[in-house]
Amino acid sequence: MTTDAQNIIDETFKHLIKTYEPQPVVMDHGEGIYAFDTDGKKYFDFAAGIAVASLGHAHPVVLETINKQAARLMAVQNSYATKEKLAAAKLIVAHSCIDLVYFSNSGTESVEAALKCARKWAHDEKGPQAIEIIAFRNSFHGRTYGSASVTEKFHTQPFFGPYIPGIQWAEFNNLESVRALISKDKTAAVIVEPVQGEGGLAVAEVSFLQGLRDLCTQNNVCLIFDEVQAGFGRLGYLHAYEAFTDAHGTIVEPDIICWAKGMGSGFPVGAMGAKEKFGKAIVVGTHGTTYGGNPLACAVAHTVITTMLKPGFLENVRASAKAFHDGLSEIQRRSNKITAIKGKGLMSGIETTIEIKTLMRALQKNGLMSTQAGKATIRLTPPLIITPAQIHQALQVIERTVAEA
Ligand SMILES: Cc1ncc(COP(=O)(O)O)c(C=O)c1O
Repeated sequence: MTTDAQNIIDETFKHLIKTYEPQPVVMDHGEGIYAFDTDGKKYFDFAAGIAVASLGHAHPVVLETINKQAARLMAVQNSYATKEKLAAAKLIVAHSCIDLVYFSNSGTESVEAALKCARKWAHDEKGPQAIEIIAFRNSFHGRTYGSASVTEKFHTQPFFGPYIPGIQWAEFNNLESVRALISKDKTAAVIVEPVQGEGGLAVAEVSFLQGLRDLCTQNNVCLIFDEVQAGFGRLGYLHAYEAFTDAHGTIVEPDIICWAKGMGSGFPVGAMGAKEKFGKAIVVGTHGTTYGGNPLACAVAHTVITTMLKPGFLENVRASAKAFHDGLSEIQRRSNKITAIKGKGLMSGIETTIEIKTLMRALQKNGLMSTQAGKATIRLTPPLIITPAQIHQALQVIERTVAEA
């Protein structure tokens, strides 16, 4: 690292509130699946802003959309319809199980909207006692008060309390633990990540999601899928819920979905989608946002989703994901250092015998950026445009690094 890069790091963190551990390199620009630091070193970007840069860096269609839309209209008060908002909402509704869309700017805002929507629906439908929300151990839903209250981290962060009341904790992939808590009278919602991202890449079993659907239907409870990390192509399907099919090809449809991250491929945009019965509980004056649904964000989301829907895009994600999982399994067979392969689609992870920070630094040194999930999982979430051939090159870096570390 040059002294210039070190100066940027030192100066930056002198001015920032310390929410993140500083990385030892400074990122400068990106192109496709690669990122480059200020010293010109090239990295396979398997961090991608934590599963954000879905179309990679500097994708021409995203750049064109941003440039054109920024020159036309970026901001408008939210009670005005725009062509961009209409196009993005129509596209999402046409390609999902939901009927109504609320646009936000981030994952946590999508979760806040979902929790408020579910509670408002439950209040109208069941009465003021129906405030309970069932969440899962090891979950992560965001850092604002509502989403932090359904995030298990709150146990280790008591200093932010009190959190919102009415939250109950069940075990991920354990239907009986949900059955023991759910109540027709008091439960408003169950919120679950189909793949637990921050929690360490645990994947929901199809039977578990189906069981949740049945329990929620039987008890008239709103089922919320948090697809902020797993959604928009990450699992090889436009939506995460579509990646969980049983032997008959049946999928589990949630009542509300939270999105962000890959939806804008780096541009901050999120959304909550709801089936009509739930979405219509939110009425004028009960929720809103200044920036959410602005024309620029909607234009970008529309471009990103349209690109993902082009023939071959999602097939490529599935082929690359298969090549990645097969390749990781091969490395595991050859090396006794990989103890587990986690995740689904291009939301993958490995657990190893090597101390996690040491391995992440070694991968970085060898030209591959990764992130940490949970206490011991190296998370690997490359841009979705990655090809199986590029996956093979990245696998070589991973194998060499694991062998050396
Ligand atoms: C499943 C899930 N939900 C919500 C969030 C919060 O998203 P944001 O950081 O955009 O607020 C995240 C972020 O990692 C996430 O993984």
